[in-house]
Amino acid sequence: SCVLVLNGPNLNLLGKREPEVYGKLTLADINRLVAEKAASLGLSVDFEQTNHEGVLIDRIQQAVGHYSCIILNAAAYTHYSIAIRDAIAAVAVPVIEVHLSNIYKREEFRHHSVISAVTYGQISGFGADSYLLALEGAARMIHGGK
Ligand code: DQA
Repeated sequence: SCVLVLNGPNLNLLGKREPEVYGKLTLADINRLVAEKAASLGLSVDFEQTNHEGVLIDRIQQAVGHYSCIILNAAAYTHYSIAIRDAIAAVAVPVIEVHLSNIYKREEFRHHSVISAVTYGQISGFGADSYLLALEGAARMIHGGK
C-alpha cells in the first residue's frame, strides 16, 4: 500500500517558522522520519508540499487509484477552504488530517476545521510526531481499521 503525505502552505518553512509553535525540525527532517517508519510498517510513501490551494485539490483528485490513504496537513486552508473539503468528499481515498500544533488551544480562528467532517480522523498537537501517529493510524486503517 502507498500513502501520500501532502503538506500545504508555509510548511516548507518548518524549522525556521515560529519554532516555539511548530518545532525545530524541517519538513525534510519530518519526511525522513515518516519514510523510516513507513519502511518499518511495510508501507510505501510519497511526499509533496505546495503553497497552492489548487495544487492540493489536484493531488487529492489524482490520488484515486494510486494511494490507500492521504495524510494531509492543509495548514491555514484547514480553516476556510470549502474547495479542499469538497475535493476530499469527492474522492474515495481516506484522508487523515494532521496538525503539528493543537489548533484548539490557539487563536479562535484556528478552532474550526472545515475539512474534519469529511476526513477519517484528525491528529493535532503532537508536533512532528503528529505525522508519525497519523502514519500508524493509516497502517491500522489499511489493515482493517476501526
Ligand atoms: C497547522 C495549523 C494551522 O492553523 C496553521 O495555519 C498552519 C499549520 C499545524 O500544523 O499546526 O499552517 O496546520
